[in-house]
Amino acid sequence: MTIKLAVTGASGFVGRQLLAVAARERLEVIGIVRSEKSAAGISRFGARASVVPRLEAEPLAAALAGAQAVVHLAMIGREREGRTYEAVNVQGTRAVVEAARRAGVPRVVLFSGLGVAHYGMTRRCTNPYFLSKLAAEVELFRSGREAVVFRPSYIVGPGDGLVTRILAEMASGEVLRVGDGRYRMHPAFVGDAAAAALAAAQDPPPGVAPPPRVLDLVGPEPVSFQSFLERTAAAARAQGRKANFRIREVSVEEADRAAAAGGFRGMGTDELDCLICDEVSDAAPLSHFLHRPLTPLDDAIAAAVREAPTKAASV
Ligand SMILES: NC(=O)c1ccc[n+]([C@@H]2O[C@H](COP(=O)([O-])OP(=O)(O)OC[C@H]3O[C@@H](n4cnc5c(N)ncnc54)[C@H](OP(=O)(O)O)[C@@H]3O)[C@@H](O)[C@H]2O)c1
Repeated sequence: MTIKLAVTGASGFVGRQLLAVAARERLEVIGIVRSEKSAAGISRFGARASVVPRLEAEPLAAALAGAQAVVHLAMIGREREGRTYEAVNVQGTRAVVEAARRAGVPRVVLFSGLGVAHYGMTRRCTNPYFLSKLAAEVELFRSGREAVVFRPSYIVGPGDGLVTRILAEMASGEVLRVGDGRYRMHPAFVGDAAAAALAAAQDPPPGVAPPPRVLDLVGPEPVSFQSFLERTAAAARAQGRKANFRIREVSVEEADRAAAAGGFRGMGTDELDCLICDEVSDAAPLSHFLHRPLTPLDDAIAAAVREAPTKAASV
């Protein structure tokens, strides 16, 4: 059975991948975006774009008409230019689930964050970003919609911000590393993220309610940040890029101060928390859910490097 699927945040990193996978499976998809420019950007994926400038229930309900599931990706990881977690992540999710109710869409798939389950338990998971993701989950669970929540670690693949930034730093000859780099991450491949979202939207068919389901969206292996750097450099060299660089260690305190003062290497305080929060999980439930092994980390990194701007990596 094929379903009609709606995607908020369709123009983003995960959204674009989701549209590409859905197109291959010949699913009918409505990509919900904020602007005509974003609408034009997703047209090449064969999705019908619906422009909804703000996450409000009434226009969203119109955009969701006829859909059997909505994948809600449109959230922010940093507050700036007047956009707050409360307005976008929490009230935005409330509007999406209310719109789903009004439009009769049975299922909502939400992307939250790895570490939400440790809110209040570890310092780096106890910040306004994780709180807003937790609140967004609660909005969904209370809505009466069929709920599937994914909690991603870093998502890696073509167009991802982390590998692109690391390659740009390598190209400059110096990579900044916060602390000793031994904190771990548990990166998932963006293709696995898209496949998981599509599977959650379709199986069991909407209307045949799954139990409320929460899955950590992680890859097959946890990795320290230092090892992630080394493996990114190895992938860059294997693809003929120059990656001669030195690592400059910045203390955690210094990085915290810079992030609070406006940004550390483009990261705000909550984004820095996400980098060094040392959150990892068990990959088996996601692999079981997808009925297949997860994409190896080196393949995910290689795919990200392949698509990253070459200019950034030529030293
Ligand atoms: N990527 C990761 O490593 C990662 C890790 C953990 C969790 N997640 C979660 O996974 C989801 C998808 O991530 P992503 O990497 O694809 O994010 P992304 O590339 O930043 O895309 C986010 C999308 O949300 C839209 N958006 C932002 N603010 C909005 C607003 N106020 N109203 C409506 N739309 C808005 C953006 O639209 P415009 O194009 O118009 O700006 C964009 O399409 C997010 O919920 C994110 O928090 C991602």
